[in-house]
Amino acid sequence: MRTSIASWPASASTIAQEYNLFFWLMVLLCGTVTIGIAVFLIYSMIRYRRRRDDEMGQQIRNYIPAEVTWIGLPLLIFFGMFAWGAELYMKIKRPPDDSITMYVVAKQWMWKLQHPEGQREINELHIPVGRPVKLVMTSQDVIHSFFVPAFRTKQDVLPNRYTTTWFEATQPGKFHLFCAEYCGTKHSGMIGWIYAMSPADYQQWLETGAAEGSLASQGEKLFHQYGCANCHHFDGHGPCPDLIGLYDRPVQIKDMGTVIADDSYIRESIVDPRAKIVLGFDDIMPTFKGQLTEEQLVQLIAYVKALGPPPGAEFPGSSGSTPHDYGTQKGIGGPGSSAISTGPPEKR
Ligand code: CUA
Repeated sequence: MRTSIASWPASASTIAQEYNLFFWLMVLLCGTVTIGIAVFLIYSMIRYRRRRDDEMGQQIRNYIPAEVTWIGLPLLIFFGMFAWGAELYMKIKRPPDDSITMYVVAKQWMWKLQHPEGQREINELHIPVGRPVKLVMTSQDVIHSFFVPAFRTKQDVLPNRYTTTWFEATQPGKFHLFCAEYCGTKHSGMIGWIYAMSPADYQQWLETGAAEGSLASQGEKLFHQYGCANCHHFDGHGPCPDLIGLYDRPVQIKDMGTVIADDSYIRESIVDPRAKIVLGFDDIMPTFKGQLTEEQLVQLIAYVKALGPPPGAEFPGSSGSTPHDYGTQKGIGGPGSSAISTGPPEKR
C-alpha cells in the first residue's frame, strides 16, 4: 500500500513528459528561490549584525547593477515559465481535430461512457493507443471531476453544460480513473479504469459490443420517437429550423447575434428551446427537459452531428437549399428513413 502511494504515476499520454518536466522545473525553481532567499537572509543577519550600541549602518542608494539584476533576472525567468505554462495549457485544452469523440455522463457515484459506435461502459473506458480521444462530459446531478493521473488530465464535469478534455495514450495499459471533486458520501468510490489498447485490439473490442447501433443511429430513433421530425423537416420548409449541416455552423439568433451550433447549443435548444430562438422562426418548440436523460441528449446530438452536410457540399443556407443526400455517416437517414444501422461499427 505504502509503495503505491509513494510512487509517481505512469506517464502514458502525449503531454505527460512535457507536463512532468514543467512540474519538476517549477519545483526546482521555486525551491531554489525560497532556499536562496532564506540562506541570504540568515547570512546577512550574521554578517551585518550590529556589533556596538552606537554603530550606524551605511546607506547605499541607487546601486543600478544590483537593481537591474534582481528585477530583470526573476522577471525573465518567471515570464519564461509563464509562456511555457500557457503553451502547455493551450495544448491540454485544445483537442486535435482528428480526435475520436466519446461522451461521459457523471452521476452520484459512477461514470457512464458512450462510444460514437454505440458501445456503452460504466466506470471503464476502452481507448486505442496513438489516437487522440476527446471527451464531452456532463453531470446528471452535482459537480464531479474526471481525473486520470497517468494522462495528467483533470477536468470538472458540471450539470447543465458540457466540458471537454482530451488525451492520447502512448502505451497500452490499465490506468486509474478518479473523481477528483467531492460529490457526496461515496465520492471515494467513484473510480474506474481506462484501458488503452493497441488499435487492432481496440477494433476487436469494438466489434464485440454495440448491439444497438451507433450513437447517431440511437439518436435517430429518439428523433422519430419524440416527434422531432414532425417539425424539423429536412427540406428547409418546415416550421422549425432545418438541421442538415447544422453542427458547428454559425446560427443567427433573434436579438442575440450569432452563436456556433456546438454540443452545448444543441443541448440547450432541446431542454430550453426558448433560450435562443433562431432568426425567422417562431417560438413553438416545447421543452424536453426531464423527458430525456443526459445519455439520450448525447445520442440526439450525435445524430444532429451526423446529419451532413453531404461530402463536398456547401453548407445549405439557413433559408433552405435542399440537399439531396442526407447525412454523411453510414446508416444515418433523413426523415422517414428506416435505415437504422445495426451493422458492424465503422472504422474511425
Ligand atoms: Cu463524483 Cu466525487
